[in-house]
Amino acid sequence: MNACIRAVVRIGLNRGCEIIGIHGGYQGILDRKFEKMDSRTVSKILHRGGTCLTTGRSKEFKTEEGTKKAARILTVDKIDGLIAIGGDGTMRGLAALQKYWDGKVLGAPGTIDNDLYGTDFSIGFDTAVNNAISAVDKIRDTGEAFSRVFIIEVMGRLSGSIALHVGISSGASAVVIPETPTDLDRIAGKIIKGRNLGKTSAFVIVAEGDEEGDATTLGKKLTKLVGENCRVSVLGYIQRGGNPSHFDRILASRLGAFAIDCLLAGSTGAMVGEINRKLVLTPFEETWKNVKEIEPWMLELMEDLSS
Ligand code: F6P
Repeated sequence: MNACIRAVVRIGLNRGCEIIGIHGGYQGILDRKFEKMDSRTVSKILHRGGTCLTTGRSKEFKTEEGTKKAARILTVDKIDGLIAIGGDGTMRGLAALQKYWDGKVLGAPGTIDNDLYGTDFSIGFDTAVNNAISAVDKIRDTGEAFSRVFIIEVMGRLSGSIALHVGISSGASAVVIPETPTDLDRIAGKIIKGRNLGKTSAFVIVAEGDEEGDATTLGKKLTKLVGENCRVSVLGYIQRGGNPSHFDRILASRLGAFAIDCLLAGSTGAMVGEINRKLVLTPFEETWKNVKEIEPWMLELMEDLSS
């Protein structure tokens, strides 16, 4: 997110805008946590995870009164346009704000879940996947040394994108994701077959929001089905932090620059995104009315490579 903020600030200043940073997400509008940004305010943040502006989940902003109050504050403070980075909730927040505020609003996709329709990739996804892969590679060393089976949980409450990408890139035996039905007998059969073929270790990548349960639940079930102790490792928040990858820095810089230029050209009510390497705008409503499907060929690839 920092690379995106930096691009908005620096490109905006280059175009002659005055840029105000809002600390703490939507709650920051309600609390008037505004900071005038200059080129130096966004120095030395490009390589850092998270956001220099901090964020949060605001209950107050979600109420009609809260949204109206935010609109009043933005009007009184003579703000002309707002760019917010986030996921589905952020886009809904901008759409709600638009009902009561005349300023221009654009969103930039920032979620490690990569589940936003209107962009091939969202800011943070690539870094989260890389973080998870590096952790899985390390767990695998124990798996191979001790001949063990591991069930590894990655983030994704409603989305299996991280799990699928990690599964393919780290050589998992199977991935378990909320978008597809989970057949534990089949997964257990695969692990047993692998053992019979001489595989020294095995690991399954589980998205935290799978309908069969989290990794701890699945670990217990698979232990019974496989007939050997399946150890569980939950990767958790390490996936969300650390130095952003090259891919994320470029994507975020491109999206931030595009967002400020679109805003200055008069665009409003949409999310910026990148599809097939082209920068595009998608109206807010479409970002949540359409489902970003998991590509079937990626599932097939996972299956074929793990056979
Ligand atoms: O939306 C991104 C995400 O990382 C999900 O994968 C995860 O379940 C959730 O956020 C965790 O959010 P929180 O830290 O607020 O519980």
